[in-house]
Amino acid sequence: MSEVPSHTLHICVTCRPKGAPPEAVRDGRLLFEAVAALHADWPGRALVALNGVECMSGCDRACTVALSGPGKPSYLFCDKTPTPETAAAALDLAAQYAASDTGVLARGERPGPFRSGILAKIPPGL
Ligand code: FES
Repeated sequence: MSEVPSHTLHICVTCRPKGAPPEAVRDGRLLFEAVAALHADWPGRALVALNGVECMSGCDRACTVALSGPGKPSYLFCDKTPTPETAAAALDLAAQYAASDTGVLARGERPGPFRSGILAKIPPGL
């Protein structure tokens, strides 16, 4: 029996650029699919699950990506683009997060696409 990953990388699949019509291809879906393709063979997948979600209430700052883990702050990142660089960086960030005892992601240590655009940092539960 395989263990359930303790951390989760959430990607909003319904994010679209501001002003894009509802029927437009969703940038969030594109980003999720790019990350999923990498995640399928990713060594860190035993620790970090990938979760496609519909909306994380950051719609005006699409695309949104979040991280959560036990006893760690949760992060919500925004303004991400569905590029191969961002997809790879999302997994690098998730690996950093899972490897950290505190879950704190210092700005200067985060992969380039994630050095900016934090919409929320939520403390862990008590
Ligand atoms: S549609 Fe992506 S955060 Fe709302």
